[in-house]
Amino acid sequence: MIVFSADELRDTATAIFRAAGADPEPTDILVTHLIDANLAGHDSHGILRIPSYIRLIKSGKIQPNARPSIIRETPVSALVDGGWTFGQVSARYGTEVAIEKAKAQGVAVVGVVRCNHIGRLGTYSTLAANHGVAAMVTVGGLGKSVAPFGGKRGALGTNPFSFGFPAARHADLMIDFATSAIAGGKVMVARAKHEPVPPGCLLDRDGNPTTDPNHYFAGGMLLPFGGHKGSALSVLSVLLSRVLVGADDYADAAGASATFILAIDAGLFRDRSKVEAETDRVIDQIKDVPPADGFAEVLVPGEPEVRSAERRRKEGIRVAEDTWAEIVDAARSVGLTLERRVSAS
Ligand SMILES: NC(=O)c1ccc[n+]([C@@H]2O[C@H](COP(=O)([O-])OP(=O)(O)OC[C@H]3O[C@@H](n4cnc5c(N)ncnc54)[C@H](O)[C@@H]3O)[C@@H](O)[C@H]2O)c1
Repeated sequence: MIVFSADELRDTATAIFRAAGADPEPTDILVTHLIDANLAGHDSHGILRIPSYIRLIKSGKIQPNARPSIIRETPVSALVDGGWTFGQVSARYGTEVAIEKAKAQGVAVVGVVRCNHIGRLGTYSTLAANHGVAAMVTVGGLGKSVAPFGGKRGALGTNPFSFGFPAARHADLMIDFATSAIAGGKVMVARAKHEPVPPGCLLDRDGNPTTDPNHYFAGGMLLPFGGHKGSALSVLSVLLSRVLVGADDYADAAGASATFILAIDAGLFRDRSKVEAETDRVIDQIKDVPPADGFAEVLVPGEPEVRSAERRRKEGIRVAEDTWAEIVDAARSVGLTLERRVSAS
C-alpha cells in the first residue's frame, strides 16, 4: 500500500482531469467528491474511479463540461437532464434543486436522467441534511451485476439508497448502502488488493458461490443483501428512479445512473430545532446500548465515515499498488507523467 495525504491525491486527480479537458468547476466538484469518499473510508468510490472516468471521457460517454439543466418542473418537483457530464456534477445539481424546492414548499422530488455514475450517495444526502433537509437518494439499474433473490442470472444493478437526517449536537445522520451484499466498487477494491470477497456475496457466471473477485468481472454477479428483503428494496429503487422518472425515455439512456431524490424540510411538521434535538436523543439512546461481545461500542449510521475522515486526515490515505499503477497509466494517457510511488508497507 502507498500512503498519500488527501491534498496530494486532490492535486493529482485535479491535474489528471484538467489534462483530460475538464473545466475547473466540474473538476473541483468531482475531485472533492472522490477525495471525500476516500476520507470517509469508501475507497470504492474514491480515486480508484479515475481510470474508468478518463476512459469514459475519451470515448465521449462523459462530457465533462456539459451543464445539467431542468427539463420540466413544478413547485415541488424537477426533472433534471444531467447532460452526460460527471454524474457527481449532475447529482449535486439535482440535490441543490431538491433542497431549494423543499425549503420553499416543504417537500420536493427530483429525477436525474442522462446521468453518469454519481459515486457515493451519502455525499448528496449529507448535503441536504446539512441544510436542514431530510433526504433520500437512490440510483436504480436493471444491469447484470446483481441476481434477484432466488435467481442465478444478473437482472439488477447494485441499486444503492442513502438517507440523510439533520441532528443538532451530533453529526447529521447518514445512512448509505448498496442493496447488493457488497457494493460493486468493493469488489474492485478486493481485486486491486488481491483479496477474496466475503462468502455469501458473489456468484460466478454459472451461478456458483465464489469469493474470487475476478469472477465478478468475468460474467459473475453479486447477491442482494438480506435475501428477499434487499432484493425487494432493489426493485423499489428501479421503480422510483427509472420507471417513475422515465429515465429510459431518452434515446441515449443506456448505462445511465437514473437517480431519484426525495427531500423533506425538517421544519415541515414542527419546529426544525425540535426535530434536530429529538434526532440527537435517538442517537444518544442507540449509543447508550451496551456493546455485544466482539464490539467495542454501538455506532450510529454515518459515524464510521466521520471517524474515518478524522483518522485519514491525520494518517493519510492508503492506496493499493495496482490502483496507483492504473492511475499512473490513466495520467499518461492524457499526457501527464506521475511518479511511480513505492509501497510504505
Ligand atoms: N453510484 C452508484 O451507483 C453506487 C452503487 C452502489 C454503491 N454505491 C456506494 O457505495 C458505497 C458503499 O456501499 P456499501 O453497500 O458497501 O456500504 P456499507 O456496507 O459499507 O454500509 C455503509 C453504511 O452502513 C453504516 N455502517 C457501517 N458500519 C456500521 C456500524 N458498525 N454501525 C452502524 N452503522 C454502520 C455506514 O455509516 C453507512 O451508512 C456507498 O457510499 C454507496 O452509495 C454507489
